[in-house]
Amino acid sequence: MTTGPSAAGLEGIVAGRTALSTVGKDGCGLTYRGYAIEELADNTGFEEVAWLLLRGELPTRSQLDGYRQRLASLRDLPAPLRTVLEQLPPTAHPMDVLRTGCSALGCLEPEGADRSGLDITDRLLATFPSMLVYWHRFQTQGERIETRTDDDSIAGHFLHLLTGRPANAVHLRAMDVSLTLYAEHEFNASTFTARVTASTLSDFYSTITAGIGTLRGPLHGGANEAAFELIDQFATPDEAEKGVMELLQRKAKIMGFGHRVYRDRDPRSDIIQTWSEKLAAEVGDTRLYPVSVRIERILRREKKLFPNLDFYSASAYHFLGIPTLFFTPLFVFARTAGWAAHVLEQRADNRLIRPTADYIGQELRSVVPIDQR
Ligand code: COA
Repeated sequence: MTTGPSAAGLEGIVAGRTALSTVGKDGCGLTYRGYAIEELADNTGFEEVAWLLLRGELPTRSQLDGYRQRLASLRDLPAPLRTVLEQLPPTAHPMDVLRTGCSALGCLEPEGADRSGLDITDRLLATFPSMLVYWHRFQTQGERIETRTDDDSIAGHFLHLLTGRPANAVHLRAMDVSLTLYAEHEFNASTFTARVTASTLSDFYSTITAGIGTLRGPLHGGANEAAFELIDQFATPDEAEKGVMELLQRKAKIMGFGHRVYRDRDPRSDIIQTWSEKLAAEVGDTRLYPVSVRIERILRREKKLFPNLDFYSASAYHFLGIPTLFFTPLFVFARTAGWAAHVLEQRADNRLIRPTADYIGQELRSVVPIDQR
């Protein structure tokens, strides 16, 4: 048993073992099952990465084709789930919609002898974009959309549903790379949550629902949404200079910067920044990208802080025409692969995750009868 002073936020604590990824490890950087993130982002698509995470090796061509077809065949939403989504108000946060949708699907298509964790993962990967856009279109335009499309990727399916037409090649690739970057990240807060839930031998949907709830917060996945709100406040880089300096003087946290594990750079940020720059040129942006670059410069200069994946994802997603409230749900589409792979890994060698706490409360005392207090 490990004893000793507790580390706030479990910083630096090794809380388990994984064969799925390394984060900021000397000589490796970020890897998924031994492959560098840079190489995966350049040479593979999200479905290949999901297969790799879930099954251990990159798929062959025929395995990939079969997997894409399988995911495409699972995009339909059962009628009771559509009814649940229609009951959720237009004011609901889309993360709450996904959390509820996941939970509802768990009632309709529960895990069991005829439905494995891998089956459920495929179903969730295929239906999360459907759930989100179905609810959105019903609530904003009163339409009950058909959620099946012919697109052969999750990125293409989502963009098609959202805009009503197939995405162009640049948008498709940008979205696909972003899903790869968001797919997996070792013992981050939401993955650890999913593993804790799995360790009690709970069902698969509960592990993913727990992950979604944890991802929602602005210190974790919610940072991409919060980063966009910051960037979008400024009309020019000079305005950003003034505004961000004021925020730093007030000791405010700048969302999309810093990281618990990385010390001087997040390798995913360089990749998504390149896409943000490319998309900015494509849409003719002369404000958000230059403002973002200036904010990055200020944070490096003033706080030696670097952007994490969420910072340039914010502008990239905006240039793709994605509503700001959908940014964190996109993280869910991708991280479902990582969460699921961790849940399977936890189950394969499970022991209940149950740490202890340093007690800092009252000394032992006696209960005073209620009329004498
Ligand atoms: N903006 C301003 N200051 C920051 C900062 C940020 N984004 N991130 C860290 N710092 C500062 C803290 O204020 C603190 O300074 P202090 O020692 O003078 O008080 C110091 O750096 C350590 O920060 P702390 O929050 O304790 O580090 P952590 O390891 O607990 O936090 C994060 C890691 C990611 C939660 C943190 O960097 C953060 O809140 N970032 C913004 C949210 C975000 O982008 N989350 C997505 C992560 S991928």
